[in-house]
Amino acid sequence: MASVTSLTDSVQQQLASALSATRPEAAGADPLLRRSDRADFQANGILALAKKAKANPRDLAAEVVARITTGDLIKDVEVSGPGFLNITVADGAITRNLAARYADGERLGVPLNENAGVTVIDYAQPNVAKEMHVGHLRSAVIGDALRGMLDFTGEKTIGRHHIGDWGTQFGMLIQYLFEHPGELAPPEEVDGEQAMSNLNRVYKASRALFDADEEFKERARKRVVALQSGDKETLDLWQQFVDESKVYFYSVFEKLDMEIRDEEIVGESAYNEGMPETARLLEEMGVAVRSEGALVVFFDDIRGKDDQPVPLIVQKADGGFGYAASDLTAIRNRVGELNATTLLYVVDVRQSLHFKMVFEAARRAGWLNDDVTAHNMGYGTVLGADGKPFKTREGETVRLEDLLDEAVQRAAEVVREKAKDLTEDEIRERAAQVGIGAVKYADLSTSPSRDYKFDLDQMVSLNGDTSVYLQYAYARIQSILRKAGEVRPAAHPELELHEAERALGLHLDAFGDTVFEAASEYAPHKLAAYLYQLASLFTSFYDKCPVLKADTPQQITNRLFLCDMTARTLTKGMSLLGIRTPERL
Ligand code: ARG
Repeated sequence: MASVTSLTDSVQQQLASALSATRPEAAGADPLLRRSDRADFQANGILALAKKAKANPRDLAAEVVARITTGDLIKDVEVSGPGFLNITVADGAITRNLAARYADGERLGVPLNENAGVTVIDYAQPNVAKEMHVGHLRSAVIGDALRGMLDFTGEKTIGRHHIGDWGTQFGMLIQYLFEHPGELAPPEEVDGEQAMSNLNRVYKASRALFDADEEFKERARKRVVALQSGDKETLDLWQQFVDESKVYFYSVFEKLDMEIRDEEIVGESAYNEGMPETARLLEEMGVAVRSEGALVVFFDDIRGKDDQPVPLIVQKADGGFGYAASDLTAIRNRVGELNATTLLYVVDVRQSLHFKMVFEAARRAGWLNDDVTAHNMGYGTVLGADGKPFKTREGETVRLEDLLDEAVQRAAEVVREKAKDLTEDEIRERAAQVGIGAVKYADLSTSPSRDYKFDLDQMVSLNGDTSVYLQYAYARIQSILRKAGEVRPAAHPELELHEAERALGLHLDAFGDTVFEAASEYAPHKLAAYLYQLASLFTSFYDKCPVLKADTPQQITNRLFLCDMTARTLTKGMSLLGIRTPERL
């Protein structure tokens, strides 16, 4: 594996050394290099430096220019405007850099972060005995993409699916199952759909009984106590709910084309044993105090109505532990046992106050400190095409599965229309890749913190910023490469490049920098925007530069090389986002 320095970094280095040669006090100053429309790059850093040195910026810029050797890397550099530098990179440098990336195989020359840490990422956390909805979709899709990008940079990631598998609501369910055995099937005998319909049936029946029958209510309450004290028979029944739910979860995640590992499903219940100790430690350290019988943590800046402080409840007055206690105990485990340096939570923005309080309490306890940071990647709401929170026509929350099925069906129509030589089986397979890709991409191409509209017509459209557009660009390149037959892609750094080739080449070279930026900012939409621009630059290259009918054999193979490099970058980038790129569409 050989990593490649991006052209941006190489130019940056040359500029920085020219700067410090001109003015020793400029050593370490950032030349502030940007991609630009005027030239390949523009450096704006001289302005600030001139101000500090009380020098004329244009003069200083001219001095720097005089110290830059043009040649292999930089073809041309000139002073522009009030003291900017416009830099043009040599054609050969672009081709050589891409050739080195091409030779590196799957990593495309992208280096691994030497100071990588361990990120525990909490995502895709549905609740036991409950249907998954669009909110769970976002957590799964965003979390999976963040993980793909982080892994690629060299970060070690550990997934934690903090499923809701604990709490008082299980008293009612378990008591019902105790009184009506056999209502849930053994996991190996049901598929996802049956599992969920069994769970729904038990839920509805037990709820009805709970609301109507005071004595059942009392028995359900006792069952909660039995569950918390670890009664064997009660735990066995509880386990049936978890197992049946997992069958359902796995079927949905499979539909989502997402790999979930069993050992990473570590729900609230896993922290049950550690919760009393969490409470004891917090109380001993004085982080938590007793208030009206409960154990709570107060915050100066968190107040509710009437300016009353809103506390975080670690332990309720009746001795029970809740959501906060399980999250605090999880932090102790993730930092202490898993050696996390970053805790990342991909959870609905509506839980941001909860995490703010949990993180602050953990900081006071010393469980989070300068070596471990915690971050809640709070995502916005999924809206319907009408801009209101996404609901069915009857006003109910939309079942995730129905939504995915519809996306695949819509994609099938698109694929069928375009398909020339595809069999029915192939159409079905492509439809799944296109439909699920469309759902993921629509989510990932918007900044996670923003709400986004779930609009299937727009999502599977062939024009515009959609995954289908990117998938078609990829498939088109594959067809060009097939047509080339025996003629294989090969880089020719001696060739002059067309403007459209230069633009495409410079963008291809920026892949690694983009992934690093998107990963470190937890911003998958930056990678999505990069890929969309890549496909657009490819389209204009392909419009302007004939590939198989280019002038010389060298130009043909060099253009095929640009095509293949684009395809490899597209497929890699899409796979980091969890989206497939079929070979034919
Ligand atoms: N199961 C929760 C829900 O559906 C999300 C869990 C988020 N993770 C956490 N560590 N609290 O709302």
